[in-house]
Amino acid sequence: MNRVSVIGAGTMGNGIAHVFAQNGFSVNLVDVSKDQLNTAVATITKNLDRQVAKGTITQGAKEDTLKNITTHTSLEEGVKFAELVVEAATENIELKLNIFKNLDTHAPAGCILASNTSSISITKIASVTSRPGQVIGMHFMNPVPVMKLVEIINGYATTKEVTDAIVNLSKQLNKVPCIVNDYPGFIANRILMPMINEAIYSLYEGVASVEAIDTVMKLGMAHPMGPLQLADFIGLDVCLSILTVLHDGFGNPKYAPCPLLVNMVTAKKLGIKTGEGFYQYQ
Ligand code: CAA
Repeated sequence: MNRVSVIGAGTMGNGIAHVFAQNGFSVNLVDVSKDQLNTAVATITKNLDRQVAKGTITQGAKEDTLKNITTHTSLEEGVKFAELVVEAATENIELKLNIFKNLDTHAPAGCILASNTSSISITKIASVTSRPGQVIGMHFMNPVPVMKLVEIINGYATTKEVTDAIVNLSKQLNKVPCIVNDYPGFIANRILMPMINEAIYSLYEGVASVEAIDTVMKLGMAHPMGPLQLADFIGLDVCLSILTVLHDGFGNPKYAPCPLLVNMVTAKKLGIKTGEGFYQYQ
């Protein structure tokens, strides 16, 4: 497998394109917005520059990585010769279902269709295609060039050949694959989001301050970021949407999003991306 198309040039999409291109894959990065594509290439260039400055890659490797990336605003053009598509569009079910219908129409018959979704059912996404056996979850973590995990999600119909291919591919990217089945939140977010929600409840109930909650988890549990800082980093809207998937999917009140999280999302205090969440960012 060498020709990979990445759909969506936001934070996750540009990180995924970066990692494939750096490992010698030919990458078509697709987004409806030309500006978003330009921003993505600028971000990848900045992150490669940082790697060159640190001596972890050479200037030649940086140039080769950038040469491996071609940008497209047309999905049809961008996936025409793909052997694998990784969809990393906004976490919105209607949008993703529409993209997968289009991918099914325009990607070659043998092409594997992967989604970087953090919580939407792979079985549901697969159901709108004529190739559910070739649809799989390939969930990268942010920041993609740094985080070693790829959570691989088998939909109900995903074939063993497709899972094996994605496991091997993840290893070629120097990542560590973990295979999980398609149930709400998979594993990463089923465990992470209740922790974040509990941290928000602790703040809401006045048990401790933002700084105290994060310091306990950073210094006491050796987490690189406290749960409230991590929530700001992920985006409070994304946290709320994943908790809603867990709550609806399991019907268990333990996943009910904290009212403070709901209020902050309604007030558009979404974390780093809006300049304010549990912390201020300028
Ligand atoms: N792109 C590329 N490289 C980056 C980067 C980025 N966006 N951000 C940081 N880095 C690199 C730095 O260059 C540095 O590299 P070296 O180790 O080679 O020096 C390294 O990462 C550490 O960066 P910094 O020294 O600047 O900062 P730090 O030590 O505070 O680390 C962090 C930053 C890696 C983000 C760290 O704080 C961390 O691991 N945080 C937790 C991240 C996490 O939990 N991610 C998962 C979120 S959940 C998710 O993604 C899934 C979901 O579905 C919600």
